[in-house]
Amino acid sequence: MRVLVTGGAGYVGSHTVLALVEAGHTPVIADNFSNSSRGVLERLELVAGVPIECHEAELTDVEATERLFRVEPIDAVIHCAGLKAVGESVSAPLEYYRNNLVSTLTVADVMARHGVRRLVFSSSATVYGASHASPLGEDSWPLESSNPYGQTKVIIERMLTDIAAAHVGWKVALLRYFNPVGAHSSGLIGEDPRGIPNNLMPFIAQVAVGRRDRLTVHGDDYETIDGTGERDYIHVVDLAAGHVAALDHLDAMTTDVRAFNLGTGASTSVLQLVRAYERASGRTVPYTVGPRRDGDLAVAYADPSRARAELGWMATRSIDEMCADSWRWQQNNPSGMSSRLAN
Ligand code: UFG
Repeated sequence: MRVLVTGGAGYVGSHTVLALVEAGHTPVIADNFSNSSRGVLERLELVAGVPIECHEAELTDVEATERLFRVEPIDAVIHCAGLKAVGESVSAPLEYYRNNLVSTLTVADVMARHGVRRLVFSSSATVYGASHASPLGEDSWPLESSNPYGQTKVIIERMLTDIAAAHVGWKVALLRYFNPVGAHSSGLIGEDPRGIPNNLMPFIAQVAVGRRDRLTVHGDDYETIDGTGERDYIHVVDLAAGHVAALDHLDAMTTDVRAFNLGTGASTSVLQLVRAYERASGRTVPYTVGPRRDGDLAVAYADPSRARAELGWMATRSIDEMCADSWRWQQNNPSGMSSRLAN
């Protein structure tokens, strides 16, 4: 299939582009490069060994999106584009609601006009909010989130459910990511956060490489294995394979819309991840314990059984592989995607 990957130059999008090529699909990237770098394209082509088409496009712009669908025959869309920083969404809710909702509405609208009915959407485990206990199953109800970013995912899931119900033949997979980490094993593609990383693994990576002095552990008084927060970290290459599995399953789906958790089903604490990273890198990761971070949960991990049963997909990469691949990426690319490629 010819698959439009919105946000295809970003962290999850770029790994998904590679997984699509590997599976014999043809990805077409649409990205506005607001939180990604053009340099990723050269690297994607190097790893994939084929040219990869990319359009710089603003998906909140109906005309621009319409133009894209006019020039590209598209069979399916994987919609990864969106703003994703929880803290930033609290201070800039207008921007988050406008960008994430309007771009999704625009993509869906243009899909409908062009008869494209297959959609895989990047959702998030944040839709489960704070009121459900782990392991989190897809039927947990109600869905809610404590921050505007998460709320955009809840609203978009609802929007897509209504759109799919009203348009004949639509098939939509809602992929609820747990905590994507790691990098492609080539060391060429990885996470390239701008400024101070919000998330744990990229922060640890920058401490290990000497770019930052120490990690602050956000609280060690939770009721968890060692007092620090537990999460379900999933290798981004496994996550990308989950997108292809969902895409390939769409036509066989018996409902218009189906949500799938993409997680491992296991949880790892902050300190366990620090230790694993130290092992992988051979470096010490100094840390201090600070107060809890607002809005954080003690524990969140997936029940991944639906994806296994229905998509035939499961995560296979261990925490040690996640750390080793992240470390390779971090060392090879001290300044992220703008680092020079070795000859
Ligand atoms: N943590 C630290 N220090 C840091 C950063 C994080 O101790 O500098 C801790 C957090 O308190 C938490 C764990 O590391 O216990 C993981 O934190 P992340 O910020 O990496 O990830 P979150 O689980 O908070 O959030 C992630 C995504 C969100 C998504 C959510 C869904 O970043 O986009 O998972 O569950 F909404």
